Amino acid sequence: MDTLRVDKFDYSPRINEDFIISPVVSSETLIDNYGFSLVKRLKFDDPYLRLYSQEELNQLRLIETKLSFQSEIRRSRGEWSRKPHTVYVDGDGNYVSKSEKHDWGDPILSDIFFNNILQESVSARSWKKMIPSASALSYFSDPTQSNIVSDKRSIMVDALTKKWWAECTDGEAIRNRNATLNYLVEDYIINHGIKDQPLKWMSLGCGTALPVIKSAVNLGIEPSLILVDKDIDALEQTEILANRLAFNGDIVKFSDINIFNENDMNRLSEKLDAKPKIIDLMGIFEYTGDNIRVNPAKFLRNSYNLLDTDGIMIFGQMLDTRPNLDFALGVVGWPFIHVRSINDLKKIILDAGIDLSKVELFLPSDNVYSVIKIRK
Ligand SMILES: C[S@@+](CC[C@H](N)C(=O)[O-])C[C@H]1O[C@@H](n2cnc3c(N)ncnc32)[C@H](O)[C@@H]1O
Repeated sequence: MDTLRVDKFDYSPRINEDFIISPVVSSETLIDNYGFSLVKRLKFDDPYLRLYSQEELNQLRLIETKLSFQSEIRRSRGEWSRKPHTVYVDGDGNYVSKSEKHDWGDPILSDIFFNNILQESVSARSWKKMIPSASALSYFSDPTQSNIVSDKRSIMVDALTKKWWAECTDGEAIRNRNATLNYLVEDYIINHGIKDQPLKWMSLGCGTALPVIKSAVNLGIEPSLILVDKDIDALEQTEILANRLAFNGDIVKFSDINIFNENDMNRLSEKLDAKPKIIDLMGIFEYTGDNIRVNPAKFLRNSYNLLDTDGIMIFGQMLDTRPNLDFALGVVGWPFIHVRSINDLKKIILDAGIDLSKVELFLPSDNVYSVIKIRK
């Protein structure tokens, strides 16, 4: 099959990221099954995976898969610390019990992984403490980072931890998710002929906004970014990143908006001088649902209401069929994630009152996330 496009991510002095999207396959069967206007499978060639040999990659993935199976068995026996469907933030986004926040997942296998397999790595254990913050995610996006800040101390990242960030299933999936965002935004600006025109891009639950800023720099655009996140530390990092990556657009930040609260979203709407043409909700949708008592359809609707006519909204959703699920949720311990099927997503979109003819589905070949684009 033909290579359709080559995306260059050459923003970083450490590594040139040549994500080759090859090929982009439309699937008629999936379109028929789900009723979306478009379904595409995306295949990426992730340069970070090529930093190590195929044998090393296979070995690491085998360890993940074995631990994942063991953890799944332990979960089904009720041997995890907390079961899914227990609440940790209320409807206003406040933690119900901070002390319980880290008490999640499979303590036994987590201990084996971090202490035996990762050899009591100080950097890996410091990183685990950062979960589920967006800062933790940034090490998957850029696994070559050499320092980690924990308890206000800077810790050198060891080679084993770096290798694991680069090669693990979720590292690959996060980078592919970011590359999909980049691909969809590029497609939008090309199709609308707006490369050199003003563009408003809002990121809800932006975290450090690493994927957004990288993408803008990579595409040579200077959008006005509206960044919304309750994590003030992550929002502070956006400035540092923007400087480091030589982002020249302007940035407006909101830390006082709970994106799951309808009144807050209305308040946000009133503060905008114009509606954004692009809204991304990357990395937040799988947290909605019973675990944090947030209705995903309402959240989708409220976010869609903020979008300008002719704009696009982009969000990811971790799939229930993803590989190494129990490794990610139990052993590493990403808490309160709602995995969903494509049919679940379809139902949520319909419940949000959005017509399926406006919806496009993208499926990166790592099979961890689906990425949805909704036009307005
Ligand atoms: C997994 S991170 C995703 C970060 C980024 N979008 C990315 O793709 O790398 C989710 C972010 O959503 C933020 N968040 C979670 N609940 C929120 C809420 N109710 N209001 C505002 N931000 C929230 C978190 O602080 C976190 O930074």
